[in-house]
Amino acid sequence: MAASPPLLPLQLLLLACVCGVAAAAAARDTLQQGESLTGAATLVSSPSGVFEVGFFPPDPKLPSRLYLGIWYRSMSPRTVVWVANRAAPATSASPSLTLAGNGELRVLDGSAKDAPLLWTSNTSTQTAPRGGYRAVIQDTGSLEVRSDDGTLWDSFWHPSDTMLSGMRITVRAPGKGPSEQMRFTSWTSETDPSPGRYALGLDPSNSGQAFIWRDGNVTIWRSGQWTGQSFVGIPWRPLYMYGFKPANDPSLGAYYTYTASNTSLQRFVVKPNGTDISYMAKKSSQEWETVWMQPSNECEYYAKCGANAKCTIEQDGKAKCTCLKGFQPKLLDQWNAGNWSQGCVRSPPLGCEVNQTGDGFLSIQNIKWPDFSYWPSTEGDENGCMNACLNNCSCGAYVYLNTIGCLIWGSKLIDIYQFQSGGYTLNLKLPASELRSHHAVWKIITVVSAVVLFVLVICIFLWRNHGRNIKDTVHRSWRSIHTSTRAEQNSGMLDISQSIPFEDETEDGKNHELKVYSLDRIKAATCNFSDSNKLGAGGFGPVYLGKLPGGEEVAVKRLSRKSGQGHEEFKNEVILIAKLQHRNLVRLLGCCIQGKEKILVYEYMPNKSLDAFLFNPEKQGVLDWRKRFDIIEGIARGLLYLHRDSRLRVVHRDLKASNILLDTDMIPKISDFGMARMFGGDQNQFNTNRVVGTFGYMSPEYAMEGIFSVKSDVYSFGVLMLEIVTGKRAVSFHGQQDSQNIAGYAWRQWNEDKGEELIDPLTRASCSLQQALRCIHIALLCVQDHAQERPDIPAVILMLSSVSSSLPMPRPPTLMLHGRAVDTSRSSERDHSHSIGTVSMTQLHGR
Ligand SMILES: *[C@@H]1O[C@H](CO)[C@@H](O)[C@H](O)[C@H]1NC(C)=O
Ligand SMILES: *[C@@H]1O[C@H](CO)[C@@H](O)[C@H](O)[C@H]1NC(C)=O
Ligand SMILES: *[C@@H]1O[C@H](CO)[C@@H](O)[C@H](O)[C@H]1NC(C)=O
Ligand SMILES: *[C@@H]1O[C@H](CO)[C@@H](O)[C@H](O)[C@H]1NC(C)=O
Ligand SMILES: *[C@@H]1O[C@H](CO)[C@@H](O)[C@H](O)[C@H]1NC(C)=O
Ligand SMILES: *[C@@H]1O[C@H](CO)[C@@H](O)[C@H](O)[C@H]1NC(C)=O
Ligand SMILES: *[C@@H]1O[C@H](CO)[C@@H](O)[C@H](O)[C@H]1NC(C)=O
Repeated sequence: MAASPPLLPLQLLLLACVCGVAAAAAARDTLQQGESLTGAATLVSSPSGVFEVGFFPPDPKLPSRLYLGIWYRSMSPRTVVWVANRAAPATSASPSLTLAGNGELRVLDGSAKDAPLLWTSNTSTQTAPRGGYRAVIQDTGSLEVRSDDGTLWDSFWHPSDTMLSGMRITVRAPGKGPSEQMRFTSWTSETDPSPGRYALGLDPSNSGQAFIWRDGNVTIWRSGQWTGQSFVGIPWRPLYMYGFKPANDPSLGAYYTYTASNTSLQRFVVKPNGTDISYMAKKSSQEWETVWMQPSNECEYYAKCGANAKCTIEQDGKAKCTCLKGFQPKLLDQWNAGNWSQGCVRSPPLGCEVNQTGDGFLSIQNIKWPDFSYWPSTEGDENGCMNACLNNCSCGAYVYLNTIGCLIWGSKLIDIYQFQSGGYTLNLKLPASELRSHHAVWKIITVVSAVVLFVLVICIFLWRNHGRNIKDTVHRSWRSIHTSTRAEQNSGMLDISQSIPFEDETEDGKNHELKVYSLDRIKAATCNFSDSNKLGAGGFGPVYLGKLPGGEEVAVKRLSRKSGQGHEEFKNEVILIAKLQHRNLVRLLGCCIQGKEKILVYEYMPNKSLDAFLFNPEKQGVLDWRKRFDIIEGIARGLLYLHRDSRLRVVHRDLKASNILLDTDMIPKISDFGMARMFGGDQNQFNTNRVVGTFGYMSPEYAMEGIFSVKSDVYSFGVLMLEIVTGKRAVSFHGQQDSQNIAGYAWRQWNEDKGEELIDPLTRASCSLQQALRCIHIALLCVQDHAQERPDIPAVILMLSSVSSSLPMPRPPTLMLHGRAVDTSRSSERDHSHSIGTVSMTQLHGR
């Protein structure tokens, strides 16, 4: 310590120069038994030299404090991923790392054999294997002690603060005592690697959730339950696309494996202030870019609002707590003073608590489910799950999800976050009185609004008699939509209204009449939005069947007011769709804007949506091969119109089976433009922070980096094609051991020349085998990882219409095939016409 620090670098330099050994050692990756690494010498991983092991001073102000670490060799400043002697820095000029004869790695504070011991891997074995031990640094970043018999010790089992691809995230630390947990522990500060206050690990009670703790046992953040694609608390970042996959092992319990895609260096770090950050390096730039951060807002801090309350983020970015329906603050004074730690209590009690019947459930949307759920083993379906909760008086809520089954909570619901969009539904148990009063309030609102409407209608009537006609009114309301959209310049997006002159001629040359309906008329047509008229729930609200006085049937979409997506999406959808006219797009007939009601009126499709046929065992048979192929072609034509022919270049962003409606002749019509975006002249892609869409259909670059383009629609189209050909849902593949999704599954079958088995057995008899296989082939081209490699829609249509032209070989969807070796040699053998070179993920980024 007393040795003069300024001289140190020189000493190291001298050491490195004088000892030729050290210079020669610069390129080796292995430390043999009995050897040691000293001074400035390092080991470099092979064959690519991604990582380097050696001693480093993390704090430039204290250059004499040295730690043994692993860092990225090419990154500057030094990015350290693992530190051995975290708690005990070396202070002598030449600390050393030695591999003892018993396989133990030791860090000594000096080069002599009897120098003070700073750190040991604690893996002494009695009998040395033949050939001895060696320590090897791998290109993955793991330092392993091995013999010919296998691995004795691995730095990946004992992480510091960084999670790297290839690690397993287990509850218990492998090779340690049963009470020892595997945790990623932060540094104390950016320049001090000693163990800090924060740690990330899996819930020791095996709920499959990840936690960040402070000071060992205070929970700061919770990932939420695994849903098959991601964690509930991180709905917009489907982690399976980053390579997360759950697994189980009797000795380790439930754990996750993490295998990043090859195209980007990626790491997750627990920072000294307790945020867990994922970084991604772009190959071209050699810089780290923050991809995400948790917790990123107040509501993401654990139990922010106490029990039975939910947290929402207000317009101003501040967190707001509210009691769940049927609950009230436990300590009103404290609650009013902004101390929510005591949370809320039930009032009135549940029926089952006071010998009354009639308890029921209220579905709350966009939720990060509360903590402490459990899986009742027996409940096989939604109904069973609901009954299990109903029949147990201490059950407070339930959820049923196809991918994971039934989840049930006790009477204390802790850590609920209500997102603006996304998230999951929670079914909250309430007594009959709460459910009824819900309806009563609605009745009052309905009556009041009916009175107001009546007055309004009279006013309009009088006003009209003042010499103006109703068309003026229509015009005015359109102008107001028009101008307010113009005012809300969306960052980076081209304002849709600017480039569409109002009442422009539509594509077919005719002036499309858009009607504005009164709320009364809509109510009359839908029997006052009665449940019996409900057709289903679209992206932003329920859809009803309406019968206009002339007998014309229409679909009425009532945008939900609480969706939080209201105005922007509404204007977007109206202005956009009003201009889009194509045989394969659903037609907008009119709209209704009255008070807070925002309603869209579409042409009615009696056959409902494609998924109602494709995945319904009773109706599947209706779609023979001919019809399915026509549907594929129809969707492609609709997309062609959106992407190219409509002059506007619209990206749909939420193409999926439930958004394809079928008319009486089974002609497909693309619907639901709530998320569509328009592109300007030279723009080819956008980057958005708000990733919205549907799992299974989202392209990797969109799901992971928020980048979307016409090629992300192509990806969704590819998935849709696979669904149509196979008759299987894209999402039903999640959770299966051997395949992560439909794309990976199809690619493997196809690559093994088992494409025929993919075809829906119901259509095998009626189908043209060649045509069906060609469809699979085209679909596989559409679901390739890299947007550049996917064909555009004009090319897809060309491929669909020709029977003989040769198609390029699709690349395997590697981003989905985690942990499974893909036989690429075979595919390159068959690769005759592939002309597109490897495109790295980085080029997708237009920055
Ligand atoms: C090695 O074992 C000793 C005693 O059991 C313990 O104090 C020490 O923390 C262990 N070191 C490591 C790196 O696990
Ligand atoms: C957390 O651990 C500390 C020290 O081990 C202990 O004093 C404290 O009671 C624990 N807190 C909780 C909430 O378990
Ligand atoms: C990862 O990339 C390297 C070079 O870019 C390549 O040689 C290697 O085969 C790739 N690995 C996988 C699993 O794709
Ligand atoms: C924690 O540190 C990171 C950078 O290291 C920063 O981006 C983040 O905002 C910090 N979080 C808090 C809560 O201070
Ligand atoms: C909130 O109230 C609890 C007691 O109910 C108290 O222990 C805690 O210190 C209070 N927190 C704040 C920030 O006032
Ligand atoms: C409910 O009924 C049971 C038996 O019928 C009775 O023992 C219990 O006191 C009743 N509880 C209440 C709150 O009325
Ligand atoms: C009822 O729910 C509680 C709390 O969730 C649970 O502990 C208990 O095992 C359940 N009882 C039955 C019979 O399922």
